Amino acid sequence: MTVAKIPSDSESVTINGIVFSHLNIFCVVGDFYTRIQQDPDLQGPFKSVVDWPEHIKNITHFWWIKFGGRSYLFNNYNPVAKHFFAGFNRELLKRWLVIFHETLRTHLTSEQVAIWTAISNSIGESLAIKNEQYKIKHESQLGSG
Ligand code: HEM
Repeated sequence: MTVAKIPSDSESVTINGIVFSHLNIFCVVGDFYTRIQQDPDLQGPFKSVVDWPEHIKNITHFWWIKFGGRSYLFNNYNPVAKHFFAGFNRELLKRWLVIFHETLRTHLTSEQVAIWTAISNSIGESLAIKNEQYKIKHESQLGSG
């Protein structure tokens, strides 16, 4: 749900001195999920996505606010549970990151690629750790029920 005006293509955010326009982010995200839908390993886990344009809008917003942009969508991200039930694991994460970094190199300058690569690696690692913790909690709840 849109709660504020969507930034124009040229509106930008700056992170560690590196500038990203809203269009930079939208192009990366759009191309990335086109690649995901064609990938033999990742297309299966992404079957839960029924509305791709909506997903692309949502994830563009996710990165925009991650880079310090103002929020313009109603969002209540719950990535740990969503990823757990999508079958997230370290092998899929590795593949996800390979495709993501290839996409970054297609669209961006080397400075932009370097920072976004580092941020995606760090979020990926944090997701992997939280996924393990979620799994332990989920399995213990199933066991006690
Ligand atoms: C650094 C790596 C990753 C990042 C930054 C990332 C980020 C996100 C974010 C922000 C969402 C939206 C969550 C929400 O709406 O609450 C999402 C959804 C999703 N992610 Fe990831 N993700 C990553 C890796 C992966 C991997 C490896 C998989 C493979 C299982 C995956 C599968 C999905 C799926 C299927 C959804 C859609 C869930 C749904 O709405 O039904 N993601 N991701």
